[in-house]
Amino acid sequence: GKVRKPTNFICTISDDRGEEATYCGVPISEVIEKGLTIADVIGLLWFKRKFPTWASNFIDMVIRVVADHGPAVAGAHNVKVTARAGKDLMSSLATGILAIGPRFGGAIDGAAKYFKMAYEKNMLPHEFVEYMKNVEKIPIPGIGHRVKSTKNPDKRVELLKDYARRNFPKVELLDYALEVEKVTTSKKENLILNVDGTIGVLLVDLFKTIGYSNEEIDNMIEAGAFNAFFVLGRSIGFIGHYLDEKRLDMPLYRHPTDDILYDVKRPEGV
Ligand code: ACO
Ligand code: LMR
Repeated sequence: GKVRKPTNFICTISDDRGEEATYCGVPISEVIEKGLTIADVIGLLWFKRKFPTWASNFIDMVIRVVADHGPAVAGAHNVKVTARAGKDLMSSLATGILAIGPRFGGAIDGAAKYFKMAYEKNMLPHEFVEYMKNVEKIPIPGIGHRVKSTKNPDKRVELLKDYARRNFPKVELLDYALEVEKVTTSKKENLILNVDGTIGVLLVDLFKTIGYSNEEIDNMIEAGAFNAFFVLGRSIGFIGHYLDEKRLDMPLYRHPTDDILYDVKRPEGV
């Protein structure tokens, strides 16, 4: 019989060998003819499935609401400084992406992981808050914001929650996270369920509803698949900030020394 040479790589998402490439079996021309959206393409290439319309519209909304949050946030600031150092688009964009992490934009996976775990273990909201403080000893991913609070609510969060309530068949983890938020905001008004947290718990609700098992969701979170939505969406804003710097022809940035506390001491014996 036929002996197949062992291959170095395996690909299960796209195929470029025919007349035209396919996204998970769907030719690109069909993607265009059938009017598939960016969210549909994400469904095919990241998750190898066609999302139902309510889910696809949610993904599209996530990308749009996280696209930018002004120049002051960690990632955009990096992009602007790098662009002003004369670097190219790829380098400037990369510095922005590299700032995405557990405190900024990259708390989506963590929020999904811990809220899901707590819900599955039937932890009461206050027990979860205590657990994160005393056992995990980390801030609850998806809770807290530098400028948003109960007095200055995050409109993005309102939009996402509102959409999910009206269109998701169920929002169990969102409801649980909102009970946790009641506990945290009773301590401090900025300890709201933030945009990362809202996306994280709603993605768990979404994937559960479309038939993913708990283990499959845990594996996706482990792989960083939920933070990927922020990386993709915020890249739109990062590219905007890079182009803005070039358009404005801004000079090299040097941070003002009067905004730095210099506290340098010469070690003894040197
Ligand atoms: N869970 C529990 N307690 C918290 C949390 C949290 N997530 N965040 C802050 N606190 C507490 C701190 O322990 C601290 O308590 P203390 O005054 O008793 O010491 C107090 O609130 C202030 O903490 P700071 O870290 O100074 O708060 P800040 O407002 O600077 O932090 C931040 C904002 C970084 C977002 C923080 O809330 C956090 O780390 N949250 C978790 C990570 C997260 O979700 N990041 C995504 C934000 S949204 C985005 O980037 C798109
Ligand atoms: C963001 O989307 O970048 C923010 O929520 C973070 C911030 O501090 O505004």
